[in-house]
Amino acid sequence: MDAIAELVALLSPKRVLTAAADLEHYGRDWTRWWTPAPRAIALPESIAEVQAIVHWAIAHHVAIVPSGGRTGLSGGAVAAHGELVVSFERMHRILGFDPLDRTLTVEAGVVTEAVQNAAREHGLMYPVDFGSRGSSQIGGNIATNAGGIRVIRFGMTRAWVAGLKVVTGNGELLDLNRGLVKNATGYDLRHLMIGSEGTLGLIVEATLQLTDPPRDPQVMLLAVPALAAVMQLLTLMRERLPLNAFEFFTDVALKHVLAHGGKRPFEAESPCYVLLEYENRDAGTETAALEAFEQAMQQGLLTDGVMAQSEVQARELWRFREGITESIAQYTPYKNDVSVRVSKVPEFLAGMDALFAREYPDFEVVWFGHVGDGNLHISVLKPEAMTKADFELACGRVTDHLCDVLARHGGSISAEHGVGLLKKPYLSRVRSVAEIALMRQLKHVFDPHGILNPGKLLDA
Ligand code: MLT
Ligand code: ZN
Repeated sequence: MDAIAELVALLSPKRVLTAAADLEHYGRDWTRWWTPAPRAIALPESIAEVQAIVHWAIAHHVAIVPSGGRTGLSGGAVAAHGELVVSFERMHRILGFDPLDRTLTVEAGVVTEAVQNAAREHGLMYPVDFGSRGSSQIGGNIATNAGGIRVIRFGMTRAWVAGLKVVTGNGELLDLNRGLVKNATGYDLRHLMIGSEGTLGLIVEATLQLTDPPRDPQVMLLAVPALAAVMQLLTLMRERLPLNAFEFFTDVALKHVLAHGGKRPFEAESPCYVLLEYENRDAGTETAALEAFEQAMQQGLLTDGVMAQSEVQARELWRFREGITESIAQYTPYKNDVSVRVSKVPEFLAGMDALFAREYPDFEVVWFGHVGDGNLHISVLKPEAMTKADFELACGRVTDHLCDVLARHGGSISAEHGVGLLKKPYLSRVRSVAEIALMRQLKHVFDPHGILNPGKLLDA
């Protein structure tokens, strides 16, 4: 029996896909830099099947690319070299809710928004949130330690994973931390798996910590006269308001969103905008918000602002920020997803602005991001007339300079999108030789046959 026939026997003919359209669909993520070319797609429905697939891959020396909602932006879920894509879309059951633990246990293929909705049904909140909530899956979120729009208040995915079941590259099942709040029994392998981008194990199940939702979230959109004012505004607002989110984008970004519909939020254009959300705890918070707004206006940190008067209007304001990624997707953007400590952002922003103006005078550069937690997305759009190869070359050159600036500020080349293929050439610029050597050894421990997402994050 050939390898694929064996796989079909393990699963079923319906759950091993080899049609060209399927290979293309499942072989890539939201990046468009690599041509998908997997050998086949497997759709397991249980942990036992995932283990069987790993044993099959070991026996046939086939690499596995784990696949969630494929909304990744660094090529971590791209299969371009005859790999087997293991899609978790059929492992989408919510397995249980525990009111005392306040946890939700889910299979890896549950869509982020379904997790959020399930938490809401119990009067609680799964607080990790981002634009791709409707398609991304929890397994992928954990594999990349996804961040998003409320990190300033709730932290990254890592903070919400209370337990994790993972299949290693040997096919063993690890049941990590089992939902415990306190567990002082040595190395916490759960945290090693979070953010490992499918290179150490296949995440098959997670127990997620839930929390109380913030009361009465209020959304404001503010017109800010200069990049330099954004962080001063953060200081002022954070002192006075319990912020849930503090996001920023430029007018260039807004124009792209508006090209897909919607009305300008303010009469006059402004170089940048801040969208903030805060928890309206009581009448005191309302007064504080008004005072903060007036003070910021007096200090010249904003020129205009609007406060959402309804949930519908809040969603409209959020659309200006969350619509950016989709609105620029057609331009094959090269995405920089960088972070520095919040205290370094003002200096870093100024340095970046100068670098991009000097190096990319002819390219359109779209700035936005989660500036409240030190994470900036700087997307460079491909000029129509330029070939993909020339564009890639130009972007690589500037990323090199960017790494110099990041190294000076102790920053990171990937804040929340992961390293995948896109940022792999730059890993050594932000992680030490000793760290990378240890990462390689760890890879070998968990994946001795080298079958788990090889070539992603690290070279073999
Ligand atoms: C976002 O913040 O919108 C996402 O990280 C996606 C992106 O950077 O395009
Ligand atoms: Zn982001």
